Amino acid sequence: MPSYVEVAAGIAREAGALINGFLARRIGFELKGEFDLVTEADRSSEALIVGRLRKEFPAHSIVAEEGGERAGSSEFRWYVDPLDGTTNFAHGFPAFNVSIGLERAGELIAGVIYDPTRDELFSTEKGAGAFLNQSPIHVSKTSRIEASLLATGFPSRKRHLNVNIHFYYQAAMLSHGVRRAGAAALDLAYVACGRLDGFWEFALNPWDMAAGVLLIREAGGTCTDMRGAPLDLRGPHILADNTALHPALLALFSQIFAGQYVFPLPEINRAG
Ligand code: IPD
Ligand code: CA
Ligand code: CA
Repeated sequence: MPSYVEVAAGIAREAGALINGFLARRIGFELKGEFDLVTEADRSSEALIVGRLRKEFPAHSIVAEEGGERAGSSEFRWYVDPLDGTTNFAHGFPAFNVSIGLERAGELIAGVIYDPTRDELFSTEKGAGAFLNQSPIHVSKTSRIEASLLATGFPSRKRHLNVNIHFYYQAAMLSHGVRRAGAAALDLAYVACGRLDGFWEFALNPWDMAAGVLLIREAGGTCTDMRGAPLDLRGPHILADNTALHPALLALFSQIFAGQYVFPLPEINRAG
């Protein structure tokens, strides 16, 4: 019998092929609220994934971004982001993915993240390590922010409430750079395989993080909130990194939370 991760991987590949088909046709998008895009690809991918999961595991619960909760009778719960990076997808910017995570009695036990444009499948099972297309992956060893490449994201909803620009600016001044590619699950996968040294974001949802958090932990990394407390998938923020960088990033963020900026923002009248 195939394992949970094998089933999820097959489903994620199918959903990725479906999304690639929509990409080739350059379909339009609709607005979910004022800024939040949603496309036929999000909905079709979710219908495919949820249909397959329900068939394979009828008793399991499913939490999926475009359809909400489907309560089940067992202790298993799937978190599904059918298309993470919708804004990128809608513009033809190739940074999006399918993310599927599985929790048992509140503990993450399996996850897959599939990037259909690069045909990269990240997969993990609790206690079994983390993989990219079957090869084991590990986080980087960088322990200094000054030598790190970081990533973050900004929400499409409620941007006026987001304080991340403060964190972005300080971290960008100190590190080799802070990428903002627009697909949180892929950012987490890149921390797991060492392409990035750390990632943080405010106000993500469980379906953005479930698979990536287990992937990072199984690859030797650490995920907490940005103040160092245990990560809650429904909590206000996440800090995910290679473990070596964790103390330095927590120290930096604690200064920024306290309003103690090292680098003041430049004045606009100095431009040009
Ligand atoms: C979004 C992306 C983005 C992050 C947003 C998410 P979606 O997911 O992961 O990188 O900054 O907060 O909502 O809506 O494209 O699935
Ligand atoms: Ca998402
Ligand atoms: Ca999504």
